[in-house]
Amino acid sequence: VKLMKDQDLAGKRVLIRQDLNVPLEDGRITSAVRIDASIPTIKAALAAGAKVMVMSHLGRPDEGVYEEASSLAPVAKYLSEKLGRNVPLVKDWVDGFADQGDLVLLENVRFNVGEGKNSDELSKKMAALCDVFVMDAFGTAHRAQASTHGVAKFAPVAVAGPLLSAELEALAKVLDKPARPLVAIVGGSKVSTKLSVLDALSKIADILVVGGGISNTFVAAAGNQVGNSLYEKDLIPEAQRLCKTTEVVFATDVRVTKEGFKSWNHNSVATVKKPSEIQADEEIIDYGPETAARVAEIIKNAKTVLWNGPCGVFEFDAFAKGTETISRAIADSEAFSVAGGGDTLAAIDKWNLADKISYVSTGGGAFLEFVEGKVLPAVAILEERAKG
Ligand code: 3PG
Repeated sequence: VKLMKDQDLAGKRVLIRQDLNVPLEDGRITSAVRIDASIPTIKAALAAGAKVMVMSHLGRPDEGVYEEASSLAPVAKYLSEKLGRNVPLVKDWVDGFADQGDLVLLENVRFNVGEGKNSDELSKKMAALCDVFVMDAFGTAHRAQASTHGVAKFAPVAVAGPLLSAELEALAKVLDKPARPLVAIVGGSKVSTKLSVLDALSKIADILVVGGGISNTFVAAAGNQVGNSLYEKDLIPEAQRLCKTTEVVFATDVRVTKEGFKSWNHNSVATVKKPSEIQADEEIIDYGPETAARVAEIIKNAKTVLWNGPCGVFEFDAFAKGTETISRAIADSEAFSVAGGGDTLAAIDKWNLADKISYVSTGGGAFLEFVEGKVLPAVAILEERAKG
């Protein structure tokens, strides 16, 4: 693909698609990781003399109606503070808008009819706003929508921004010719939603570590009764199949609780047990200490680590020890480490480890699809444009 840094942007109208889809609570941004990661691109374009328009989606609003809860207003405010200048938010922009300086944020692209369906009509209007289109939204690169894909078809020039290229480079370092051993850690609640990722990683990783509800299904597949734990009975054959072809590490001791999930709180208590000792009214909520230590040792000996998904209910301290041990082991290891996914970022944030991980991806779904080996449509169109 062509890169933003190789373009002459002086005096050009530059439309940058970023992923500023940040979590909000009562209108307050709870994690600004994605915005912070996008700022260097904005600064670089401004420094190159461009007239910059930034666009992004936020949430999943219905098209054709403005909805305050999905407005990018909190993002405009955050950007203004971080950049030390007013960043105007342009509400109606698709058909052109009055000049408001050399940096503006365009209101949520998903308010526009045709965004989700990647309409040519809308894409052409977006393309008409700019001389250069910069795709920098790695987190949304798996979506073929007007602002990620269509606009790149019609813009005079379409290139990849620095964040998108950095993400692709870091992931390629793990997936193509990684330094070995490569250890992949996949946590989260369900095997079913991550089966393709587990499959893809089982083929390239030397050791596949599973955590969270995914580990529970493997614990059950090993012949244990898992009581009240979250697990997927019908995926036991898949778990057994993966264990035959790959070295899969799952919990050999666990932390359990009898408290129902509705009453979990910061004073909740967990008990360490062997999988064979789990009672019918108990639920696995974390690795036990022996498993966490074993995984930490595996990480210590790795040369490359890929991590997605927590290993327990880390929001509550008594259930967070496994995830904490593993995230600290990744942070302390000499291996090239890449972590991605929303919950994973929250875990890294909880223990303040972002600086100690080689690369923290801003992608959730896009990260997983890339790991699965799927083509990201927003990247594919840039490749096509680079050829033509
Ligand atoms: C994400 O949060 O994974 C991206 O911003 C994509 O959002 P979407 O799943 O609503 O397309």
